[in-house]
Amino acid sequence: MIGPPGAGKGTQAVILASTYKIPAISTGDIFRSNVANETELGLQVKAIMAAGEYVPDSLTNAVVESRLSESDAKAGFLLDGYPRTTDQVHELDRMLTAHGTALSVVVLITADTDEVVSRLLNRAGVEGRADDTETVIRHRLALYEEQTAPLIALYAARNWVVTVDGLGAVDDVTSRIVSALATKGIAAPAA
Ligand code: AP5
Repeated sequence: MIGPPGAGKGTQAVILASTYKIPAISTGDIFRSNVANETELGLQVKAIMAAGEYVPDSLTNAVVESRLSESDAKAGFLLDGYPRTTDQVHELDRMLTAHGTALSVVVLITADTDEVVSRLLNRAGVEGRADDTETVIRHRLALYEEQTAPLIALYAARNWVVTVDGLGAVDDVTSRIVSALATKGIAAPAA
């Protein structure tokens, strides 16, 4: 899943993981959990995340490679917020080729800047995430445009991208994603 900060990637990833019975792998969540537990990785990334910068590709790629090798990812997985750089795209290609697999679809969730800033400022009041201040939110959005938005064209050239409007009720966005996945032949397993 790709889209600007606040588009709803994490919210939708949790719902889709349950619907499609595959693990949602969120690099942001993995890093935050390491920060909270004060692991060596957490100590390395804490200030980077608080500033809204990207964690170095080498660290991020290693985290994803390790997570993808766990048994629950063998039958499918959903990546939330990875890859975000061209280097990460190439590393992911390499990892998946080594596992004899590939991505099936890239879900782009769109939302305009006013909406995402408003959502993230609202979340700041609820969760107190260090990177949800207005200055850092705007920096994260700029970094997304500079480093991550160009990946959409790269994946579109592979015909993998479906674009979903992220505005409106969470359930409505989920329905749009489920419909878009169906156009790529991806259906939820029977309950
Ligand atoms: P990450 O946690 O991935 O942050 P992000 O991309 O900035 O995404 P957000 O979690 O802010 O937004 P989201 O699109 O997931 O929306 P959400 O569902 O949460 O990454 C954090 C940091 O980790 C990065 O800045 C970087 O430092 C590092 N990092 C992570 N991955 C990396 C990578 N690959 N490479 C390098 N560094 C990496 O929703 C946001 C809010 O909106 C919530 O409050 C939610 O309740 C609300 N909301 C959701 N949907 C709706 C809706 N439809 N209507 C109203 N409100 C909604």
